[in-house]
Amino acid sequence: MAKLTVKDLNVAGKRVFLRVDYNVPLEEKDGQMVITDATRIVETLPTLKLLIGQGGKLILTAHLGRPKGKREPSMSLRPVAAKLAELLGRPVAFLDDCIGEKVEKTVSAMKPGDVLLLENVRYYSEEETNDPAFAEKLAKVADVYVNDAFGAAHRAHASTEGVARVVAKRGGQCAAGLLMERELKFLGDELEKPARPFVVILGGAKVSDKIQVIDRLLEKADTILIGGAMAYTFRLAQGHKTGKSLVEPDKTDVAKAALAKAQQKGVKFLLPTDDVVAVPIKTDKLDKKGQPVIDYQNVRVNTSLDCADDAAGLDIGPATVKAYSAEIATAKTILWNGPMGLFEDKRFAEGTNAVARAVAEVTQKNGAKSIIGGGDSVKALNKAKLGDKVTFMSTGGGASLEFLEGQVLPGVAALSERR
Ligand code: 3PG
Ligand code: MG
Repeated sequence: MAKLTVKDLNVAGKRVFLRVDYNVPLEEKDGQMVITDATRIVETLPTLKLLIGQGGKLILTAHLGRPKGKREPSMSLRPVAAKLAELLGRPVAFLDDCIGEKVEKTVSAMKPGDVLLLENVRYYSEEETNDPAFAEKLAKVADVYVNDAFGAAHRAHASTEGVARVVAKRGGQCAAGLLMERELKFLGDELEKPARPFVVILGGAKVSDKIQVIDRLLEKADTILIGGAMAYTFRLAQGHKTGKSLVEPDKTDVAKAALAKAQQKGVKFLLPTDDVVAVPIKTDKLDKKGQPVIDYQNVRVNTSLDCADDAAGLDIGPATVKAYSAEIATAKTILWNGPMGLFEDKRFAEGTNAVARAVAEVTQKNGAKSIIGGGDSVKALNKAKLGDKVTFMSTGGGASLEFLEGQVLPGVAALSERR
């Protein structure tokens, strides 16, 4: 990697401003916020341990949720500090602010190896606007800048980008953490010249979310397998009926262009040949976002490429599972991003689970390299208890997608070059 990493540093006695992505899922239980998945915290431990081992003073900055410049109590990082202390096996101090005198005073009393987590940096709106004066305030306690927040590296915010610039301007070092380095290695370098066959599995709701990734991977992949609601926009483009399935009628041209490019490049581009469909019925109940909860009735396998007018496609069918599993079994490199269906509902989870099993199996038995591009596919793998059976699972959501699209991530661009 062309960027400086923590392995190149010696931070003994120095104040290390360490940006992490501790935007973890929380749930309220008996009036307390409880972390339901600590993966993003666990994955930063190697970086923390390395820097502690060198005798650095670690000042951790992170965001949680989108409080939009307000002190939203449910988005406090305090529970994260407790969890981090437990996982790290040493004390982690917490401060209810991220800038100002209190921070400076606390930091001036820190000893080598001490760890301090600052409060949600998005309690200030200047974080997201990447306000230079705010970056200066954050940087007051930084001798060295380390970014291990791959999941937030697509944001040009003060703590992910602005602080790095301030530190660099002073002649300080800005380095990637070990997690950041791993993410860039697997989602970047490893996919540059993949061992073949290179099989890409793409799912999720929208073609529009994935089209740039599809376009880029059509240059590299041997096979692309499409699942999720996104498949219905392709079906629509091919003139089939999609009933009440989630489709993007204005994206059929994009779908057609992808199909044409696949043919021109000789990429095997597979769409589902059968699916699991059901009749969606709106209920009176509202979900967390205030949207009506949908009840699904008359769940059945549909072997036609057309969907009944009153039904929606919600998972890939058994024949598709078989065909996709067979393709996956031949792979030497796999990239998977996006579930095959509405896997949160057991009735529509089999497609995603079967793909997860196939990916895990070819990794374990044939030594294939399997890279999971973050978000829902990671959730699905963990739910199927197969998370430790793949080569790499990204901690990024939007960041992984933008990186796979070939975009330069501002949080990465801001780091020092390795000389
Ligand atoms: C994420 O969870 O995707 C990252 O932490 C970034 O969060 P954001 O989408 O609110 O910027
Ligand atoms: Mg997000």
